[in-house]
Amino acid sequence: MISRFSLLAAALGAALLAAPARADDNTVTIGMILPMTGPQASTGKQERAGAELYIQQHGDTVAGKKIALVVKDDASAADVTKRLAEELIGNDHAAVLMGFGLTPLALAAAPVATEAKVPEIVTAAATAMITEKSPYIVRTSFTLPQASAPMAEWSLKNGIKKVVTIVADYGPGVDAEKWFSDTFEKGGGTVAEKIRVPLKNPDFAPFLQRVKDDAPDAVFVFVPSGQGAVFMKEFVERGLDKAGIKLIGTGDVTDDDLLADIGDSALGAVTAHHYSADHDSPENKAFVAAFEKANNGMRPNFMAVGGYDGMALVYQALEKTKGDASGDALLAAMKGMSWMSPRGPVSIDPETRDIVQNIYVRKVEKKDGALYNVEFATIPDVKDPYKAAKH
Ligand code: PHB
Repeated sequence: MISRFSLLAAALGAALLAAPARADDNTVTIGMILPMTGPQASTGKQERAGAELYIQQHGDTVAGKKIALVVKDDASAADVTKRLAEELIGNDHAAVLMGFGLTPLALAAAPVATEAKVPEIVTAAATAMITEKSPYIVRTSFTLPQASAPMAEWSLKNGIKKVVTIVADYGPGVDAEKWFSDTFEKGGGTVAEKIRVPLKNPDFAPFLQRVKDDAPDAVFVFVPSGQGAVFMKEFVERGLDKAGIKLIGTGDVTDDDLLADIGDSALGAVTAHHYSADHDSPENKAFVAAFEKANNGMRPNFMAVGGYDGMALVYQALEKTKGDASGDALLAAMKGMSWMSPRGPVSIDPETRDIVQNIYVRKVEKKDGALYNVEFATIPDVKDPYKAAKH
């Protein structure tokens, strides 16, 4: 006779088995590490919303595998990023790491990805050399040389002869300064001064006074996503706009997430970048509408698209491997992959694992009462020039 007790025990046992503490073979866990708090929190918020929207639109099952997205906050501390990467792989059995809001954070995870043979999808950080730090890194954001060199080309053709550069003093800023200045000077332009400001709590005001005295045609600026509003405010407060000094840069300074806060002082700024919420394509119109709907009207910026495309990359790779989520299989599938992003056509360079994409030159204008980066020129299929120069 089977007692009621043993039936109950068997049912409980089955329930425990059915709810494993660790991911089983049918679950692919994606560990997303982002700054969700602190000064870079807007990056975390946008990246996460982009990744979640992709899952919402495409379902949480791919090639027979259930997708589980686990988001962790590193608060922009590299030691925390590294520990979280280890824990996500060791405890949560993450098959993919994703995110990385700043260059030092992407670098901190690189040795962990290499040792575990787990893909590290960099959806935010943008210093060119990052992809060289692990054969498991693939990038869906951009590189600073990719945006800065076209900005210099445009400046040379549009009557800008003398420039002062101002950049955040770390990897992407150094890249932006070098690739803007070298390209500009090679084409006959003059860089009067190269100014670097601290990444943390930057005060641009004293530097901007100096720039005013240099009287350049334009200031070229790179600050990471989130800092543009502070820069713009001080640019106007110091009267640089009234002195007739143009504002040019990579699109990070006129970030779509901040444009409304920056206000009319952003009008006329010309930047080069890979994404604008105003990009005119059916894919982007659908993306922006769905993103705003899912996020209380929040406008997506380039970080949101980085997260969305990071997820697109993983989904397509899993389709291609027929659900094999081992690192080497995913990497092989990702190399050379191409798709239509909200930003335009993109592909993963099989040699460098960096994204190849259009770079657009844009100007801040008002459309129906709101500020946008309005694209007016396209440089198609730009590869990271830093790596192109080495190959
Ligand atoms: C970076 O740290 O690599 C970084 C962060 C924000 C940006 C661009 C680059 O907008």
